[in-house]
Amino acid sequence: MSVALVGAGPGDPGLITVRGLELLRACDVLVYDRLVAAELVAEAPASALRIARDRLEQEEVNALLVAHGRRGRRVVRLKGGDPFLFGRGGEEALALAGAGVPFEIVPGVSSLTAAPAAAGIPVTHRGSASAVTAFAAHDVEALDAAALARVPGTLVAFMGLARLARLVERLVTAGKPASTPSAVVAAATTDRQRVVSAPLGALPAAARGLPTPALVVIGEVASFRAELGAMRRSAA
Ligand SMILES: C[S@@+](CC[C@H](N)C(=O)[O-])C[C@H]1O[C@@H](n2cnc3c(N)ncnc32)[C@H](O)[C@@H]1O
Repeated sequence: MSVALVGAGPGDPGLITVRGLELLRACDVLVYDRLVAAELVAEAPASALRIARDRLEQEEVNALLVAHGRRGRRVVRLKGGDPFLFGRGGEEALALAGAGVPFEIVPGVSSLTAAPAAAGIPVTHRGSASAVTAFAAHDVEALDAAALARVPGTLVAFMGLARLARLVERLVTAGKPASTPSAVVAAATTDRQRVVSAPLGALPAAARGLPTPALVVIGEVASFRAELGAMRRSAA
């Protein structure tokens, strides 16, 4: 396989998959995201061409993957969490498929479950939540707040810290109780991890000053942090 879209996991370099690490250690070209642990970038062979994705447009990334893949190079496209969850992995896979370049998807441990878990929060729990809704919250005004306020189970907001106050305002106005247990987990599974938990209405004030990346968890399951938070392995 010439190109692999590999999930790097949520932050802790130990949370990449065995398959992902194997491909990383054998690659000729590594294209990596800003959120990927430096320890993982260092796992590529010294001779590998390393390309940081940050300053590139998505079309440029697609073109790079296609060009190196066509030359038969072993290319690893290393992405935070899982490539197919808010990772634009689908766009890259479509570009490769369209160009006839063989590729493989190596799933990763997503922050969707790993960040809450690192804070002692199971995203589902019998009797508390039997559904999880993950959504991107960078464009708060575009969200269907009424639908989100109504949906049962746990809400998990990606990219939601910067506009958390407005997100909460919209959800509460749409009927989500301000008393709903909630948490923000920042830099999960890294040594910078920080967690705050509070009722939804008080969350923006409690989360002020937290670093990114951060995940917002809203629902009854957030109250498990009180009992399970001490069992996390990363400091918070
Ligand atoms: C572009 S999305 C990528 C998600 C990634 N593909 C995944 O599966 O985790 C980036 C967002 O994921 C969340 N995120 C990623 N890593 C995180 C971490 N270590 N702690 C908390 N949130 C994280 C944050 O909401 C961040 O803004």
